[in-house]
Amino acid sequence: MEIFKTKAALKAFLKPLKASGKKIALVPTMGALHNGHISLIKLAQQNADIIICSIFVNPTQFTDPKDLEKYPRPIEHDLAMLADAGCNGVFMPNVDEMYPAGADEAWHIDLGNAEFLLEGEFRKGHYQGVTQIVKKLFDAVEPDVAMFGQKDFQQVLMIKNMLAYFKLPITIITCPIIREADGLAMSSRNIHLSADDRKHSLVLSKSLQFVIDHFNEYSLSELEDKAKAFYHNIDGVELDYFTIANGDTLEPAKSKHENNLIALVAAKVGSTRLIDNMIIK
Ligand code: PAJ
Repeated sequence: MEIFKTKAALKAFLKPLKASGKKIALVPTMGALHNGHISLIKLAQQNADIIICSIFVNPTQFTDPKDLEKYPRPIEHDLAMLADAGCNGVFMPNVDEMYPAGADEAWHIDLGNAEFLLEGEFRKGHYQGVTQIVKKLFDAVEPDVAMFGQKDFQQVLMIKNMLAYFKLPITIITCPIIREADGLAMSSRNIHLSADDRKHSLVLSKSLQFVIDHFNEYSLSELEDKAKAFYHNIDGVELDYFTIANGDTLEPAKSKHENNLIALVAAKVGSTRLIDNMIIK
């Protein structure tokens, strides 16, 4: 497995591979890798010949400086996991390499109204930062396909909107959510959960699963109310949102008969903010 710190070194590695017709996949990450990330590498291997994983904790997408500071960076462990998974190359630039003009460089594109809903409401500017770095990573790798997790459902929509904005010829593949055995969606932030938090964190997947299991029994508003009631009186758990939304627009669903429905949730568990979702149909 090759490791690249600069765009120039990465491009030099990829050039002959592209010239010989190899299909390139990019798996963008911020490191602190878990089996969710590795599932993206595995799916990439089914869709391309050469897999590049990027590890870069992107400052412009963090709205809380403390969150950026305490973001885990277990780089040796990450590299061992990637080598084990058969990843071909790792791009791990520093901040200056990605933001030569400084991390406050100008960037603003129209991502549509969904930018401002859900995560966009709680993390102002987050998707500008995400699309800014993903565009830079796409420019550095020029992949044929790029893998993203359904775990960050709104992020996938925003990246697709960014691709359309720049008319980039890249296929986005959305990968299913990988969960712990008890249902908690894997996340780099889960290591911050205390033993109590870890127990309480199950409310996210349980409330989502309730909606899936009882979708035919109740109205949309009843489903949302009953799901929200899961969060009442759990010590240290604070619900940011629980919504049943249209999967294209992320607007609250108006009818159970819409084609593309998804339940999405965000909650603080102790001091850790978690998100999760389940596709209804
Ligand atoms: P990060 O949180 O490291 O996630 C990297 C990729 O792994 C994302 O596409 C995310 O959706 C996916 N992922 C995370 N948890 C998962 C799980 N439990 N199952 C399946 N996939 C999972 O998302 C980011 O980094 C950043 O915003 C990034 C796109 C790299 C831009 O900085």
